[in-house]
Amino acid sequence: MTKILPPSSHNLELAADLLQKGELIVIPTETVYGLAASIHSESALHKIYTLKKRPYSDPLIVHVSNLNQARRYALWDEHPALLLLAETFWPGPLTILLPRNALIPSIVTAGQPTVAMRCPDHPVALDLLQRCPAPLAAPSANRFGKISPTTPEAVLQEFGENCPPILDGGHCRVGIESTIVGMDPADPQTLKIFRPGLITATQIQTTTGMPVTLPGCSTQTTNHPLTPGSLPAHYCPNKPVFLLPEHWRQLEPQRLQELIQEMLSNQASPNPKSWGWLLLRGPAIGLQGVVCNINPNNDLTQAAALLYSSLRYFDNDPQVRVILVELAPPQGIGIAINDRLLRASRGSSVWSRGDSNP
Ligand code: TXA
Ligand code: MG
Repeated sequence: MTKILPPSSHNLELAADLLQKGELIVIPTETVYGLAASIHSESALHKIYTLKKRPYSDPLIVHVSNLNQARRYALWDEHPALLLLAETFWPGPLTILLPRNALIPSIVTAGQPTVAMRCPDHPVALDLLQRCPAPLAAPSANRFGKISPTTPEAVLQEFGENCPPILDGGHCRVGIESTIVGMDPADPQTLKIFRPGLITATQIQTTTGMPVTLPGCSTQTTNHPLTPGSLPAHYCPNKPVFLLPEHWRQLEPQRLQELIQEMLSNQASPNPKSWGWLLLRGPAIGLQGVVCNINPNNDLTQAAALLYSSLRYFDNDPQVRVILVELAPPQGIGIAINDRLLRASRGSSVWSRGDSNP
């Protein structure tokens, strides 16, 4: 049976030993839990892909104990701006893409010439990394395409009886995956954010003085520029997710309910009691169903921390058949939250049946 291990010295030593022997260990980080293997154990790296059902074309993030260790594995000197970002934001939720050297096995990078590296800001992860002779490759500890886990219990739910030992680090503080930054392949003078997270484009721009481009499908505006189905499905709960239109709070309740019922007529969930509402802009009154307000204090950082656990809560509540979400204000970490919600919904909005004018 899988054990959730308290992070005692004894258990950290045990975990480091198991990693060295080619086993997997689930580790806490400040963002989400990771499924870790030594980068030098090819058999363990294969186990990561198998357990996650992850395609071999999707590379893994390499976790290091500090910048000195990271410098052994990539060509930092060619990219002073990226070095400055590591010096500024590590340990922290920033993953940096760099040209790798020959010490990084190609299975880690899925054959790509770049390696993704980060130093996590979690005492348990850092303690473990310091006990390991080599960095740890660790994707999020969830099945491919599903929601990342932010608690040990969520990891157990993902992998069931096949789950490797989990080091307990409590609820992840940030709650969504790290920002990924690298050079923009289209322009060597520009940085590119490949995945938004807690560290924002503005912070990266201010630190480096370089222009920063954002990924195509992040929501910098609150409009719904959605072509349903065009977004890669990822970060998905098991139940269908639909985005609420921007002005849903201004709609008369009866009209809102009718529109949603019309939308959901094919989902066998017309009963408003079976709707789960995920609120990101404060409370709303008069909603039927199950309501989860993850932004009660006008604090998007808190909303991000609660995002995945609330989606899991809906998945686990038998009363809920569909999840209705509103996007966050598109500022700061709101951009990252919206990126995940757009993917979770695959771009399906309550208006995607053609009624685009509320
Ligand atoms: O916060 C995080 O980054 C968490 C924790 C566990 O550290 N990790 C995480 O890993 O989210 P994962 O595997 O779920 O997402 C990593 C993303 C993937 O989209 C992968 O394609 C991209 O990073 N990636 C990894 N290595 C890459 C590389 N060499 N080049 C381009 N993209 C890479
Ligand atoms: Mg992931």
